[in-house]
Amino acid sequence: MDHFLYRNGVLHAEDVPLAEIAAQVGTPFYCYSAATLLRHYRLFDEALDGMDHLVCFAMKSNSNQAILRLLGDAGAGMDVVSGGEYARARAAGIPGERIVFSGVGKTRLEMRTALEGGIRQFNVESEPELERLSEVASSLGLTAPITLRVNPDVDAKTHAKIATGKSENKFGIPIARAREVYALAGRLPGIDVIGIDVHIGSQLTDLEPFEAAYRKVAELTRVLREDGHNIRRLDLGGGLGIPYTRSNEAPPLPREYGALIQRTVGDLGCEIEIEPGRLISGNAGVLVSEVVYLKSGEGREFLILDAAMNDLVRPSMYDAHHDIVPLVEPEPGAAQRPFDVVGPVCETGDTFARGRDMAALGEGDLVAFRSAGAYGAVMASEYNSRPLVPEVLVQGDQWAVIRPRPSIEEMIARDTVPDWLGAELD
Ligand code: LLP
Repeated sequence: MDHFLYRNGVLHAEDVPLAEIAAQVGTPFYCYSAATLLRHYRLFDEALDGMDHLVCFAMKSNSNQAILRLLGDAGAGMDVVSGGEYARARAAGIPGERIVFSGVGKTRLEMRTALEGGIRQFNVESEPELERLSEVASSLGLTAPITLRVNPDVDAKTHAKIATGKSENKFGIPIARAREVYALAGRLPGIDVIGIDVHIGSQLTDLEPFEAAYRKVAELTRVLREDGHNIRRLDLGGGLGIPYTRSNEAPPLPREYGALIQRTVGDLGCEIEIEPGRLISGNAGVLVSEVVYLKSGEGREFLILDAAMNDLVRPSMYDAHHDIVPLVEPEPGAAQRPFDVVGPVCETGDTFARGRDMAALGEGDLVAFRSAGAYGAVMASEYNSRPLVPEVLVQGDQWAVIRPRPSIEEMIARDTVPDWLGAELD
């Protein structure tokens, strides 16, 4: 459930008509609902009720300061994957003891920043990383709390570009080699082994791969404890999928996911962490755009929008489906016809939908891409010199721009032309 609903035929974000925001901010823009973000966060929090736990929002899905602050104030931790995300989380007031650091390529600088600034744990993905972290922590006279991310070789049954738990993926340590790497971790100075981490992919719509992975983690916990490691925390990753269409069967609910966690690892007495991103932020955001032209092609009709692949790259990158709905609700039973919905960027990949049945729309009409709150704004670029689109947050009847649209002048002013530059004359 989200808070983007038609009221009196007009699409609202909570209590605010989206057209009102469009009139003031201009299009395109991202708009998020605070109530939806909080609701989704709480669903996870409640799903783990009865277990010592922390829900760490995967802020790669949406890292706006206002959103981090909102979730942080509700008690969320953060899963970060770069020095930039770590700094953003800290700037939003998230204490270090609620930040976990994931990612396959952490640099010395990132390690030092997190060690000095405070960190709940590093999720370490390889032996070289483990050795480097030991070196950095020892040189600072500090100890790095770690889990090792294990790769359980489970097929997550999701899009190949976002599956991470198969042995051929770059992520984690093969579970078969976990004991020897834990033994190494146990010997290294400056390292405190506290648990196990696993993450098998994103947009999972079936619980079975989670179950297979978590059972392997439970078994590994017992083995490692026998080896003398004090395994007391399990980070079970993110990845629970969301409904991208209203018609499809809904993916499992956080409640069912929580019950699965309870069933598979609940008896181990470990503190549980999860790292959901998409399920918290995905359906809490829309991208609002205006129809620039209607164009008739050879047997096709193109709806040309002012939003493009640089603003929302998921359809061109993963063939992802986003529902596209008009801001003014069509009359019930209104005739629909197929449109190719495209942006103005100069490549054919700048296509949001092909042959999508939609009610008649004309120039100047506004539409909203649903489910755009996760991996939308954060993946945007300025391709074709299109400034990043603004972000707006709504709570009840209040709204605010939480990231303004940069002017074209600001965008150009970031470049510098060296004063020695000139055409060689000889
Ligand atoms: N934890 C780790 C270690 C991850 O790599 C990810 C996502 C998450 C948690 C959060 O997963 P979520 O709950 O959001 O599914 N850009 C792609 C998705 C990439 C996901 C990468 N890792 C997309 O737009 O579909």
